[in-house]
Amino acid sequence: MQGTATATNPTSIHRAAAGGLAFRGVSKHYGIVRAVDGVDLEVARGEFLTLLGPSGSGKTTMLMMIAGFTTPSAGEILLDGKAITHLPPEKRNFGMVFQGYALFPHLSVFDNVAFPLKVRRRPAEDIKREVGRALELVQLTPLADRMPRQLSGGQQQRVALARSLVFTPDVLLLDEPLGALDRKLRTEVQIELKQLHERIRTTFVYVTHDQEEALSMSDRIAIVRDGRFVQIGRPADLYERPATRFVAGFLGESNFIKGRVSGAAEGGFAYAVNGETFRQKAASIPAAGGEVLLAMRPEKIAIAADAPSTAINRAQGRVTSWNYFGSDFHFTVATASLGQLAVRCPAWRMKLEPKNEMQVWLGWDADAAVVVTDD
Ligand SMILES: Nc1ncnc2c1ncn2[C@@H]1O[C@H](COP(=O)(O)OP(=O)(O)O)[C@@H](O)[C@H]1O
Ligand SMILES: [Mg+2]
Repeated sequence: MQGTATATNPTSIHRAAAGGLAFRGVSKHYGIVRAVDGVDLEVARGEFLTLLGPSGSGKTTMLMMIAGFTTPSAGEILLDGKAITHLPPEKRNFGMVFQGYALFPHLSVFDNVAFPLKVRRRPAEDIKREVGRALELVQLTPLADRMPRQLSGGQQQRVALARSLVFTPDVLLLDEPLGALDRKLRTEVQIELKQLHERIRTTFVYVTHDQEEALSMSDRIAIVRDGRFVQIGRPADLYERPATRFVAGFLGESNFIKGRVSGAAEGGFAYAVNGETFRQKAASIPAAGGEVLLAMRPEKIAIAADAPSTAINRAQGRVTSWNYFGSDFHFTVATASLGQLAVRCPAWRMKLEPKNEMQVWLGWDADAAVVVTDD
């Protein structure tokens, strides 16, 4: 971010003194709909936690309970160890940003950002100073006198951010805030948001259904499904070690392989599918004779015209479709042993001239896949 020289350091002002959140057995039921179903969660002060899940999985309901606009049917919500479950929203010092920006159209950028401070009846000189700092934080100082209609979508979203940060909230709640922005702008604002978080270290709870957004910004991601958490962890841990079929398929793309365990093999086990045997590294060996489900990322499979000499696992197949994405190629390959496999190859590594129906070899290492449970 390009900074303009100022007398004050915005980070010292905007660092909140609180912000550790916890859910203890929190539920929200609407009649027979279990929007949120008995969840536990710890969010450390200063953490960037993302709730990631499909539409209708309960993310907004969780955020609304943190904000205080929705009361849980059961359980407690704690802020720094104290129950706030029944505290009204205006008594929680939390900021909120939503998709629709909801700036006041008749107020200037300055007055929009000043609004929360006016509501709190702060003196005029405080307001001037704090709004100045908040605008600087989101790089909108030169646009303070503009009206919302004179701003781009990204700029409006930054005004909304400044407005939600101006009163130094303990926690910032963001519900799909970038949903209305086009792809390129969304990527830019993602980077800005992450940098902003790194500077102010306010607790962020961020809701999205966009896996890329979650992976690129969060300290931790909680995967939400049917009102529960399926898995919580750091982005790379979730991507590399999804626990279930759902997580492997929702966070990125995965091939799923169902095999029968033949027995232990060097650092893992061997399994058979349609008469062919493959090897997989694993910390714990599944019982011989049982079924095992593996998830394998398309980019972990190498594709070549000839049989790979180094890969531990290999399969011959036929290209049924291919697409060029600039940075990489995506293939669908029909194999005799494993059915259809999705394969990705970085463009710079491509040694094939891709053609439909061409015969290819696929190769992958013993640690290319992970064992997942079938949910
Ligand atoms: N006020 C409400 N009354 C009845 N059902 C609701 C209400 N709010 C949410 N739900 C239901 O709860 C579930 C979770 O909704 P929501 O939290 O909005 O999901 P998400 O934000 O993940 O899309 C959905 O099935 C939704 O229809
Ligand atoms: Mg929602």
